[in-house]
Amino acid sequence: MAISPSLLIADDAIRQSIKALPARYWDFASADTKEWTHGYHSYPAMMIPQIARGLIAIVQRHQPGIRSLFDPFMGSGTSLVEGLLAGLTVVGSDLNPLSRLITQAKTTAWDPDALQFWAETLTDYVKGVRTSETDRPQFRNMTFWFKPAVITDLARIKQSIETVIPEEFRPFFWVAFSDTVRWVSNSRNTEFKLYRLDETRLAQWNPDVLRTFRKVIARNQIGNARLWERRPLPPVSLYAYNAMDLSALPDETLDLMVTSPPYGDSRTTVAYGQFSRLSLEWLNLVETSEGPSPNKLDQAMLGGLASNELHHTLPSETLTAALNQIAHHDSGRARDVLSFYQDLDVTLREIARVMRPGGYQCWVVGNRTVKNVKLLTDRIITELSERHGLVPVVNFTRTIPNKRMPKENSPSNQVGAKVATMNGEQIFILRKN
Ligand SMILES: C[S@@+](CC[C@H](N)C(=O)[O-])C[C@H]1O[C@@H](n2cnc3c(N)ncnc32)[C@H](O)[C@@H]1O
Repeated sequence: MAISPSLLIADDAIRQSIKALPARYWDFASADTKEWTHGYHSYPAMMIPQIARGLIAIVQRHQPGIRSLFDPFMGSGTSLVEGLLAGLTVVGSDLNPLSRLITQAKTTAWDPDALQFWAETLTDYVKGVRTSETDRPQFRNMTFWFKPAVITDLARIKQSIETVIPEEFRPFFWVAFSDTVRWVSNSRNTEFKLYRLDETRLAQWNPDVLRTFRKVIARNQIGNARLWERRPLPPVSLYAYNAMDLSALPDETLDLMVTSPPYGDSRTTVAYGQFSRLSLEWLNLVETSEGPSPNKLDQAMLGGLASNELHHTLPSETLTAALNQIAHHDSGRARDVLSFYQDLDVTLREIARVMRPGGYQCWVVGNRTVKNVKLLTDRIITELSERHGLVPVVNFTRTIPNKRMPKENSPSNQVGAKVATMNGEQIFILRKN
């Protein structure tokens, strides 16, 4: 099929724009990553907003006609917020119900005066809620993860939001509640996996739940006020789709993708389900979501179920070579790795299908190491995407100055034995023919 010369010109212009940037431009070591609504809620492996912003700006400069941005692994919605700020209609999806709640709040602008009124009404109301009137949620290990006084206060806030706050304002307050749940739980807040505080710290742990909640609300109100100034905002569509099945989205409709996929399966890399479990339990998103329960969420994510065999037909030499090397040391780990890339390959087909011909895909990926073998996910995605009609445009590395992610793990399961699993990330752009 003949390729339109204008596309080749745009590809080249994008490459030149990136080449012309100063060295280490993409590090954003001192950038404010919490501006706008980006600071609403912590989330594992968040994208640096300035990276999404930079990529969108470059593509928009050379394809001024683009109207929509898609993120099939939207997480906390970083690229969607940046898409909105760039005037694009945004479409996002994620299996994790907490991701959708956070992204909904971060992409909505509420009238700041109304929000202030409801925040004051809510905090006044909470003070008068008697604990005996409160229905506490029941979930497994609740008292392991929360002290009794904390459970009482969280239940008071939850009941107050349900009683006082009108439906349309609730996402804002549920997100503040969810972030509060995380801060006041007995889990170590510096970790994204659920680890309980050690006994000494636990004994001294008496968080002020209401104060924490008020602080989170006040912080998030600042972000909302900024977004409000940018009205009218383009439309936002958020879905619960598994990226392996985007069949509800029509073919060839989306102009630009900016995404950061999971680094690997949740068992051995970032456990999004585990990170979200306490919030999901408190928010009752367990019953209401059509997706998997919090305990099953990680299994449903890419690579969640290990492959039974090592034989595969994926057209990636880079992957095959890495799998052979890993299998030499540990065939079980090789099967884990294969299952992740088999699932990822299905998503590549789906993403390619929903994107408009000529549209760009911007990927930000972490290349991790398994059994001392580096998994070059950027190359693997590029190779696998070829049969879905994608051509490589540009690929470069950024060093990670401050991102919270698993930099180290124990490859040999020996206590204390650690190697760096990721020391930078790859940013690359593909274009659909
Ligand atoms: C690296 S995170 C995205 C972070 C996001 N860029 C941000 O700034 O917050 C990857 C996301 O992929 C989601 N995910 C993993 N497997 C998925 C699947 N099969 N379908 C849809 N989402 C999935 C996880 O829930 C997680 O939110």
